[in-house]
Amino acid sequence: MSYNVAIIGATGNVGRELLEILSERKFPVGEVFAIASRRSLGTEVSFGDKTLKCADLEQFDFSKCDIALMSAGGDISREWALKIAAKGCVVIDNSSAWRYDVDVPLVVPEVNADAVAGYTKKNIIANPNCSTAQLVVALKPLHDAATIKRVVVSTYQSVSGAGKEGMDELWTQTKGIFVTDPPTPEKFTKQIAFNVIPHIDVFMEDGSTKEEWKMMAEIKKILDKNIKLTATCVRVPVFVGHSEAINIEFEKPITADEAREILREAPGCLVIDKPEDGGYVTPVECVGDFATFISRIREDATIENGLNIWVVSDNLRKGAALNTIQIAETLINRGLLKQAA
Ligand SMILES: NC(=O)c1ccc[n+]([C@@H]2O[C@H](COP(=O)([O-])OP(=O)(O)OC[C@H]3O[C@@H](n4cnc5c(N)ncnc54)[C@H](OP(=O)(O)O)[C@@H]3O)[C@@H](O)[C@H]2O)c1
Repeated sequence: MSYNVAIIGATGNVGRELLEILSERKFPVGEVFAIASRRSLGTEVSFGDKTLKCADLEQFDFSKCDIALMSAGGDISREWALKIAAKGCVVIDNSSAWRYDVDVPLVVPEVNADAVAGYTKKNIIANPNCSTAQLVVALKPLHDAATIKRVVVSTYQSVSGAGKEGMDELWTQTKGIFVTDPPTPEKFTKQIAFNVIPHIDVFMEDGSTKEEWKMMAEIKKILDKNIKLTATCVRVPVFVGHSEAINIEFEKPITADEAREILREAPGCLVIDKPEDGGYVTPVECVGDFATFISRIREDATIENGLNIWVVSDNLRKGAALNTIQIAETLINRGLLKQAA
């Protein structure tokens, strides 16, 4: 069995990773179609040892595809996902457009793979926000063991989370500062080179940001509606790889040693945790990897049943492209993806 796959946003950060991971994991592809805006018509992108030429989204006939992996931003997803789905092509969407729709499953396969079955209502499945994906992969096994009551998370999110323009801005500002060119913020609200910015996405009425709200809403939809979460999301001058410092309060007792053992066995998790110089993972080491890395596991003596952990993952992979492809693989493994094309 093989499936015709459309990659929408193929010239972007996530789109390029989608193409790379499809090839790396030997996804059973028939034909692969690279799709972007009219601006990129004919632009070449790599897929394994092949080169694909980008088609224009507006002109493309989706009835020849079985599955569309979308990463072209929320506005495009809102405009196009239902139209594509109506052609019999299952859409797995990376934007926030469909995540909170009750008729659209929001899936991280290590956590709630069974939810994929609900895709039939709209023929759409949503992929979570990058900072949520790695968070729930690390929390699910601990929740199963000791029931999480409350989570306090601070994120250190790389500029690639803001698309290719975010990466260009860090690069340009960093070079500019060395030749005393004053940095001009465009994509970010303040200088990002040699700085950190406690602001991702728009502000909400209660003073939190939409990125922080997304983490709260998504953990409830994916893991457990009873978990309380408060977040501070921060953009840092790192190209790829999001980090999170997470404080967790449990209903039942759990020691750091027990948590370490549980996480060592957990799907998608890789524990690297030695209390010595370098005995932990930093973002540069996670780039290009599939795992969610967990370090600095320790008890929090200031609360009953509390733990602190440090979680790092490649935001373009587990935070986006890898999770999307794992969802597609789950559909195939469960016999849910029909060859419509
Ligand atoms: N980066 C992450 O860590 C991450 C994680 C989770 C989810 N996401 C989500 O994934 C989506 C893409 O993110 P990204 O980081 O890959 O962004 P990006 O690097 O800026 O790429 C955007 C892609 O969308 C395409 N696009 C833009 N306007 C279009 C249009 N009118 N019609 C067709 N294609 C259009 C672009 O094509 P052109 O080259 O033709 O403009 C490009 O291929 C966003 O919704 C983002 O929120 C990103």
